[in-house]
Amino acid sequence: MQALSQLSYSPISNLSAFGRPTSTIAGKTTLSDHAKPSSQSTPDAPHPRQIAVPGRPSPARYAEPTMPPAPSPKTHYPNLVVFDHPLIQHKLTLMRDKTTGFMAFRSLMRQIAALMVFEVTRTFHAERIQVDTPLEQTTGSRINAQITVVPVLRAGLGMADAILEVMPEARVGHLGLARDEKTLKPISYLSKLPKHLNAGPVILVDPMLATGGSAVAALTMLREAGADDLRMIALVASPEGVTTLGEHHPDVKIYAAALDRGLDERGYIRPGLGDAGDRLYGTT
Ligand code: PRP
Ligand code: URA
Repeated sequence: MQALSQLSYSPISNLSAFGRPTSTIAGKTTLSDHAKPSSQSTPDAPHPRQIAVPGRPSPARYAEPTMPPAPSPKTHYPNLVVFDHPLIQHKLTLMRDKTTGFMAFRSLMRQIAALMVFEVTRTFHAERIQVDTPLEQTTGSRINAQITVVPVLRAGLGMADAILEVMPEARVGHLGLARDEKTLKPISYLSKLPKHLNAGPVILVDPMLATGGSAVAALTMLREAGADDLRMIALVASPEGVTTLGEHHPDVKIYAAALDRGLDERGYIRPGLGDAGDRLYGTT
C-alpha cells in the first residue's frame, strides 16, 4: 500500500476529467510537465504520469467531489508549503463564500494568519538560556533575532495584525503596492522599512499571490533594503504566482492556505476569494 506521505498535491497535471485536483505519487511530475499537458490524454484514461494507487480507482475515474480535496502541505513546488489543517481549510472556505461580509472576512483572515504563524516561524533560531522558576533554575530558549513583518498594503494588513499579536516584539515595515487593472503590473506608492533588515528574518505578508508581480516587486524592494532571510505568508496562491516567485526569488519559501487552480483573464485567482482588499475593507 502506498504510504500517504508519498502522495502530493499537484494543481494542474493532477486535474481529473472534471477539473478537480487528484493525487499522484510525489516526484513523478515536474513543473514543466504541468506547463505541457499531454495531448494524448483522454478524459477516461489516466494521465501518463499518473500512477494508480493500489486498491484505489484510477485518479481520472474519480467522481467529482462536492468540494476540492484539501491540498497536502507537501507539494512538488519546492518553494511552497500549503497548510492542509482542517481548521485553516474550514476558515478559508468561509472566506471564499461570497455571502461572507467584511467583518467576518476580516476576523477569519486574522484567525488563519495566527494559526499559520507557528509553522512559518518554526525555523527561527533560538538560543538556550537559563531561567529561574519560583522553584528552581531550568533551561529555556529565546529567539534573539530581530524579526520584521512587512505587510503589502492594503490586504496584507489584515494578516499582519494577527501575526504581531503572536510576535509583539517584531518590527513592522510597510510596502504600498497596487496592481494596475489593465497591465496587472504592480505600482509602488509607499515604502517605509526599518533599518538593518539583515538583523533577522523578514516575513512578507500578502493574502493573494496571483500573477506574482506584487510579491516579486515587494521581495526585490526588501532585498535592495538589505533583507537576506525572507519568507512569505499568503492565504491563496496560484500556480503561476508560485512559479514566477520561484524564478525570481528561489530562496524564498511561500506559506499559503491554498494553492488554487489558476488565474482568469483578469488576473484573478480561481476559484479564489475575489478581491481580498475590497472584501477586507468593504470597498466593493
Ligand atoms: C492584491 C493583493 C496583492 C496583489 C496580488 O492587491 O493583495 O498585493 O493584488 O496580485 P499579483 O500577484 O497579480 O500582483 P491589490 O493590488 O488589489 O491592492 P489592494 O490590496 O489595495 O486591494
Ligand atoms: N488580488 C486579489 O485580491 N484577488 C485576486 O484573485 C487576485 C489579485
